[in-house]
Amino acid sequence: MAARKPYVGGNWKMNLNGREAKELATALADGFTLGDQAEAAVFPAFPYLEKVGQALAAKSSSIKLGAQDFYHQPNGAYTGEVSLAMLKDVGASVVLVGHSERRHVIGEPDTLINDKVLAALETGLEVILCIGEKIDQREADKTDHINTGQLGYGLAGVSEAQMARVTIAYEPVWAIGTGKTATPQDAQDTHKVVRQALSFLYNDDIANAVRLQYGGSCKPSNAADLFAQPDIDGGLIGGASLKADDFLAILQAAADKAGVPA
Ligand code: PGA
Repeated sequence: MAARKPYVGGNWKMNLNGREAKELATALADGFTLGDQAEAAVFPAFPYLEKVGQALAAKSSSIKLGAQDFYHQPNGAYTGEVSLAMLKDVGASVVLVGHSERRHVIGEPDTLINDKVLAALETGLEVILCIGEKIDQREADKTDHINTGQLGYGLAGVSEAQMARVTIAYEPVWAIGTGKTATPQDAQDTHKVVRQALSFLYNDDIANAVRLQYGGSCKPSNAADLFAQPDIDGGLIGGASLKADDFLAILQAAADKAGVPA
């Protein structure tokens, strides 16, 4: 069985100005030389996508350009929204869908998240679908139900062939930006449940091939322990992706895992 290539995304959220975004992209492009062992993507805010893409391209970097959000309709009267074609036009190849801040702060429902997953895949982009339970749900022993529910809803209608362009990010909501990280064992337990659910929804081959990222206060000091777990194939990084040295250290931890058979 082929090994899953570790994959790490840097979700810059609503941070950095244009100059800082460009400088960070340049520093990452200079520092990331592990493209054979690990995949990397960065997700700047919309206004800086093109600038960051140009900074990466200027260094022929393998780091992919991604968008944090979009609207699933192709064009028209959707004031304030950004289409997938616009993202492709500025060089984005991957999109986040269902991030907990979009689910719980902005209020995106599962139906919209599913529409977005389907539209992005139909447009030929790669999708990182984010799932994760809130603290009250974890305390009520609903972790597996919530995650498998968000997974099944998000992937409804996604074909087996399209799953080759899907990554799942498990991000416990209580761990995002809080400094609280799931223990490697707790994260592994949920990742295993997610992989089993993919097996049920698709088949074992697809379940074994899909990369599962962990997100939630992942940083240089805990990345290696998290990535050492058999079902954790990298991470989706918020705070620690805003500093080049930290993000590069996390990428190194992911690359160190490379070669582990799936
Ligand atoms: P964090 O964010 O690393 O700051 O916890 C993770 C994310 O929201 O993707």
